[in-house]
Amino acid sequence: MLQREYIQDLKNLVDQEVTLRGWLYNKRSSGKIRFLILRDGTGLCQCVVMKNAVDEATYNAADELTQESVFTVTGKVQATDKAIGGYEIFVSKIEVGQKSEEYPITPKEHGIEYLMEHRHLWLRSSRPWATLRVRDSLIHAIRDFFHDRGFICFDAPILTPNAAEGTSTLFETDYFDEGKAYLSQSGQLYGEAGAMAFGKIYVFGPTFRAERSKTKRHLNEFWMVEPEVAFMDLEGDMELAEDFVHYIVTRVLEERKNELAILDDGSGRLVARAEKVLKPFHRMHYDEAAKILDKYWDEKLASGEELPPTFKRFQYGDDFGAYDEVALTSQYDAPVIVHHYPAAVKAFYMKRDPNEPDKALAMDVLFPEFGEIIGGSQREDDLNELLKRLEEHQLPQSIFEWFLDLRRFGSVPHAGFGLGLERLVMWICELEHIREAIPFPRTLTRIWP
Ligand code: 4AD
Ligand code: MG
Repeated sequence: MLQREYIQDLKNLVDQEVTLRGWLYNKRSSGKIRFLILRDGTGLCQCVVMKNAVDEATYNAADELTQESVFTVTGKVQATDKAIGGYEIFVSKIEVGQKSEEYPITPKEHGIEYLMEHRHLWLRSSRPWATLRVRDSLIHAIRDFFHDRGFICFDAPILTPNAAEGTSTLFETDYFDEGKAYLSQSGQLYGEAGAMAFGKIYVFGPTFRAERSKTKRHLNEFWMVEPEVAFMDLEGDMELAEDFVHYIVTRVLEERKNELAILDDGSGRLVARAEKVLKPFHRMHYDEAAKILDKYWDEKLASGEELPPTFKRFQYGDDFGAYDEVALTSQYDAPVIVHHYPAAVKAFYMKRDPNEPDKALAMDVLFPEFGEIIGGSQREDDLNELLKRLEEHQLPQSIFEWFLDLRRFGSVPHAGFGLGLERLVMWICELEHIREAIPFPRTLTRIWP
């Protein structure tokens, strides 16, 4: 390993001589001083090269360096409030490594398609860098939350013999002599087996939806975290979801304030927004949400405000569309949990409320001015009811025999939910589009790089 210090540790190294290794992010000059912005992966640091303080080779090296060229710098650390990151290096020596010619991403503005086409390089720029560090912090916090509470990490398979969330969005592949296999849409069904074996588990992995959807909130490959708990009902599920969101967002606020400041140009807007999530969530029955929406759209339509061509007015019994979710949450500061959706629009595995048989014991957590980030439910634990559901959804019983066994042998009430990681990253970072929330997005029109 080549000896070096990291920019993120400079706060502990003030007045000491350090060696940093990295790439040239940017540079400028003023008379006989050269200012090099070094990028080392952990941050940016201004390196000050003064003609009268270095030998000729080092001074010339500073002039030769082009964007993304590699260099090693040695010098003394000083605190400053004038340069990015708050620390700068007074250079005594520079060594130049590989020289980068005509780096495709210059400090000028590029279009999003161009940047996506160069995603493998764009990752080095400050916005993707900050966004993916927020994502990293969330992932770490997700695992800590569950481990600290005694959940077992339970990895569900990616190649599966059946649908979990409806047959229309399955990616299909051949599987030797066994017929077709499908990329997992959700680890939940396997998670239910795990909950019966370990009491409480979480599945965390990539999931796939072959949706021909071009919205800003859909990826065809995304990461979902799915806790599943034995002896938990819908109420417990909502409490868990709320505690979970509070915990992981708090961790981002603790660990990634600098990154949020990069993303909102230091305005503090993103921190203020994320803090809203730390207030108690509003809970409402689907019927109440439906009433709010009726009134909302009545008023909107009466006001003569023009609605987008894709707008379709909500009718009682429908699932909510994107516009409805935004409308519902716009009335509140904190997220809203809607529960008791019509069973007819929800997945086959959800339990119905014995007191309202047309409603599923389902809940979605909707984020302010955004919409669904979590979907969950109490599961059908009665064998005969579940058999009926499979039939209604025209799903073949034979493929689900293992899942039905969970109802034949020691069935108990249980519940869980799924949180879409990229949706949460998108919301926290206020991204235009979900494709920026994952290193290499897979969308309808993009599988490269
Ligand atoms: O609501 P969904 O489809 O629920 C399930 O898959 C359940 N099996 C979860 C469970 O109960 N264990 O998906 C859950 C979450 C959504 O709320 C959303 O955040 C995210 O996954 N999601 C997507 N994110 C990005 N792109 C897509 N195409 C997504 N589809 C769902
Ligand atoms: Mg959903």
